[in-house]
Amino acid sequence: MNKNTQILLAARPQGMVKDSDFLLHTAEIPPVTEGGVLIQNEYISLDPAMRGWMNEGTTYIKGVEIGAVMRSFSAGRVVASKHPDFSVGDNVVGLTGVQAYAVSNGAGLTKVDLSKGQLSRHLGILGMPGMTAYFGLLARGKPRKGETIFVSGAAGIIGAAVGQMGKIKGCKVIGCAGGKDKCDYLLQIGFDGVIDYKTEDVAQRLKELAPEGIHIYFDNVGGDILDAALTNLARGARVVICGAISQYNNAVISGPKNYMKIVSARGTLTGLIVFDFIDQYAKAVLDISKWLKSGKLQYKEHIIEGIENFPLALRMLFEGKNFGKLVLKIGE
Ligand SMILES: NC(=O)c1ccc[n+]([C@@H]2O[C@H](COP(=O)([O-])OP(=O)(O)OC[C@H]3O[C@@H](n4cnc5c(N)ncnc54)[C@H](OP(=O)(O)O)[C@@H]3O)[C@@H](O)[C@H]2O)c1
Repeated sequence: MNKNTQILLAARPQGMVKDSDFLLHTAEIPPVTEGGVLIQNEYISLDPAMRGWMNEGTTYIKGVEIGAVMRSFSAGRVVASKHPDFSVGDNVVGLTGVQAYAVSNGAGLTKVDLSKGQLSRHLGILGMPGMTAYFGLLARGKPRKGETIFVSGAAGIIGAAVGQMGKIKGCKVIGCAGGKDKCDYLLQIGFDGVIDYKTEDVAQRLKELAPEGIHIYFDNVGGDILDAALTNLARGARVVICGAISQYNNAVISGPKNYMKIVSARGTLTGLIVFDFIDQYAKAVLDISKWLKSGKLQYKEHIIEGIENFPLALRMLFEGKNFGKLVLKIGE
């Protein structure tokens, strides 16, 4: 068997991540002990949350230690098992890190069914980001037919899924993304209106596209776009805070200036952590795979090859260079 290639966290980044924040390392493949499995990873998920995991301290999850394997959701196959629930050949997803081989005691490791979608999709639309879109919109946003949804980061994995799920639920959907290509794509997949936040005034365009006001704002980016959304809420609006990618590289996160608009709209502002819905993932996977098969849900992946390209790939998320779910392919 080969050696294990790993990406270790070498330094805590200041601002945007740099190549030197990581170390490409070669290690022995650890032996499988009783109750353990050895996984050969094929795909590594790139997620904006990784930037927060590189910081010191604990938020909803503890920061990665310096010198440790960088945390990631990864998908691969079991190649050796001394665990009663996993067999050689099982396809699995878990927080097994940016490395070619990982040992696991099975905690948090999920067997995935490739009849619902190819392996990489279980890191995206059938995995954690898909679950975030599903529960963030349905359980937190609570869309009703005829309502208007505004979603930022709309051409990303979560944003595009939220918009299309909104259409499935009979809503009008407006998305905001950076650049013409991304905005054109959103119209192609059924969005009713788009805003290019790099060239347009978001608050002004929202007033034109949604004169009735927005009933749900699904926030992936925070910052100025959150403030623009708050100026155009309909009565009873639900603002779902999913993420704030525009802020993750800042030492201090700026809060919304227009939060009093929640009061005049009699609205709510709700936080979302996808892991709170883990016991309901199976139902979401069934619905999402059905929508994928029927064509109601379109899904785009952006695949970069080579574990050594991990730092570059991670930066792409913060530079808007990914177009679709960003995944690193590291195996055959
Ligand atoms: N709460 C939870 O449980 C949970 C779980 C998973 C993810 N999240 C959050 O969900 C959000 C979306 O994640 P994702 O996986 O779907 O990522 P993604 O949208 O596939 O990729 C990130 C996109 O964010 C946009 N972006 C980057 N910097 C920006 C900025 N300064 N202003 C506006 N847009 C910017 C870029 O698109 P453009 O080219 O359009 O700028 C980029 O392509 C993130 O905030 C993430 O942290 C939350």
